[in-house]
Amino acid sequence: MSITIKTPEEIEKMRIVGKLAAELLDYIGPYVKEGVTTGELDKVCHDYTVTVQQAIPAPLNYAPSGHNPYPKSICTSVNHQVCHGVPGEKKLKNGDIVNIDVTTIKDGFHGDTSRMFYIGEPSIQARRLCETAFECMWLGIAAIKPGKRLGDIGQVIQKYAESHGYSVVREFCGHGIGRNFHEEPQVLHYGKAGTGVELAPGMVFTVEPMINAGRRDIRQLGDGWSIVTKDHSLSAQWEHTILVTETGYEVLTLSSGSPQKPGNLP
Ligand code: MF3
Ligand code: CO
Ligand code: CO
Repeated sequence: MSITIKTPEEIEKMRIVGKLAAELLDYIGPYVKEGVTTGELDKVCHDYTVTVQQAIPAPLNYAPSGHNPYPKSICTSVNHQVCHGVPGEKKLKNGDIVNIDVTTIKDGFHGDTSRMFYIGEPSIQARRLCETAFECMWLGIAAIKPGKRLGDIGQVIQKYAESHGYSVVREFCGHGIGRNFHEEPQVLHYGKAGTGVELAPGMVFTVEPMINAGRRDIRQLGDGWSIVTKDHSLSAQWEHTILVTETGYEVLTLSSGSPQKPGNLP
């Protein structure tokens, strides 16, 4: 498979599903409180997606090669969990940080987005990590324009993260998205400016940097999905689905509750 250029009709469908995914994150926000279990958050998201949005949660039973089918409808990655945290019985407690990653299918197209949520009062270090990861995502997005290259996105993210003393996870990356959950190209969150695929209008892909407070190394838990930092340091991630336009980019996963792009970025 190669990189697909979306038609205007396909782009319109991706706008619709992108907004649904973002609105699901808006909806779950008030439930993300001390004492709730990640399994309960999964159920609320599943029911809202299916019943209210009349859409499909893409993670449920998703089974890329080498994986057992994913058992839940969202990913919840708490503290040192990097990504693909499987919701369960664990209660969220004061000071936790949690990434909620949702992917919605509507009318055959996917929208993929995630945000960090705070439980009560996280530490200054945890907040700073989450804010820096948010800025990393937006710096990567701001680098998107026809004629630029994928390496330009990775380079700005890596440079910004490392200048704050953080590390960038290498094993997972952004991805093309459309009729399929994961399409070409791979969007690395590290690299060299001026290298890699040239961006062209109609490409749609995610930017979703995973930033660790400690070392970049990760390992997978016995559930076959959950990824954690090897050194148990905190990890944070944000994700948007982006369309390359004639003049730059359009964020497809925005809603009224989306945290805004930081004012001090290009
Ligand atoms: N939403 C994740 C991503 O951003 C993928 C999750 S796959 C799942 O690519 F099966 F764990 F849901
Ligand atoms: Co993604
Ligand atoms: Co995602």
